[in-house]
Amino acid sequence: MVIAEAVQAEIRELMACYPEKRGALLPALHRVQQELGHIASETASELAALFEIRPIEVMEVVNFYNMFYSTPQPAHHVYVCTNLPCSLRGARDVLKGLAAHLGVDAEGNTEDGRIHLGHEECLGACAYAPMLRVDDRYHEDLDLEAAKRLMDELD
Ligand code: FES
Repeated sequence: MVIAEAVQAEIRELMACYPEKRGALLPALHRVQQELGHIASETASELAALFEIRPIEVMEVVNFYNMFYSTPQPAHHVYVCTNLPCSLRGARDVLKGLAAHLGVDAEGNTEDGRIHLGHEECLGACAYAPMLRVDDRYHEDLDLEAAKRLMDELD
């Protein structure tokens, strides 16, 4: 078993909150990823058994949403929003400066594999441009120096 018994019990409780247990798949995926870091095919098979669906149906969800990962990941994901409002307020300079600060060639993983730097389109916080997200937390009204400090504070 890849998914701990305690986590499976939490998932069963989640299922009880929905008219159809399949409705709990997204929160279950979040919970499992929080525990294991990614959703490998073996994990998908166990989840599929819990939900009484096919493993491919679990992997379709994992592969559709960019917040789920099917392979081991760096400890931190940093995404700078580069859509128009953020770009007009300097997001592209923030992204370029962070790449230099982290020693990443444009976008990708740091040499130690600890941080992934990338860009995303609008994250829905345009009024606070420029902004970026670190994992699932937003950081807004940034400039390059503030963004660099954020990187230096990552554990
Ligand atoms: S354009 Fe950056 S959050 Fe909308």
